[in-house]
Amino acid sequence: MREQVLAWLAENVPPSRVNHILRVEQMASELAVHYEEDVTKAATSGLMHDLAKYFPPQKLLEMARQEGLEVDYVMEAAPHLLHADVSAIVARDTFGVEDEEVLQAIANHTLGRPGMSLLSCIVFLADTLEPGRGDTPELENLRLVSRENIDRAVWKTSDYSLKFLIESYCLIHPRTIATRNWFLQKSKSKPQSVPLSTSVDGNFITPIINATS
Ligand SMILES: [Fe+2]
Ligand SMILES: [Fe+2]
Repeated sequence: MREQVLAWLAENVPPSRVNHILRVEQMASELAVHYEEDVTKAATSGLMHDLAKYFPPQKLLEMARQEGLEVDYVMEAAPHLLHADVSAIVARDTFGVEDEEVLQAIANHTLGRPGMSLLSCIVFLADTLEPGRGDTPELENLRLVSRENIDRAVWKTSDYSLKFLIESYCLIHPRTIATRNWFLQKSKSKPQSVPLSTSVDGNFITPIINATS
């Protein structure tokens, strides 16, 4: 199947993007080995994560709507955000991928998702941190964190992406913030079954207690 995907990519994606895809495949595989996740699933997700990267906006919107996906106002204004969801549709319909976890990892690679699986975290990180993205101290540090603490890495990588989006005057999808908040809390909270309050950088967040419960 890998050869089939590579042949399809050669027709539908420019060579520079194919190289990025191959580096994501490679880094996702390495992180999977590191975290004892399924390497084949990680490689497949990495190889297919950007299948729809160059689909025109109208096609992305049509395919998402046909699939019954929720297209919110940010996606309508920036249909490129849908390339992750649509890549999962292409993986399923063109290449017969049935593994739900792989399809989710492809679909979550841009915006992440609160509570996403280890496989999704791996592909999310590999997409932003693969070696071709640069070698600034910030990126190098994120690469180190990606091997030390995966939850912290997803939080910090979301912060990195948010800073980039703000500086480039881009729209920010609320799910990027939701992903960031979820992984920040997960990586900061102490292992306990029912946390009454969670310390976040010295600030205490007290959960709303439902009066009826
Ligand atoms: Fe992408
Ligand atoms: Fe990508």
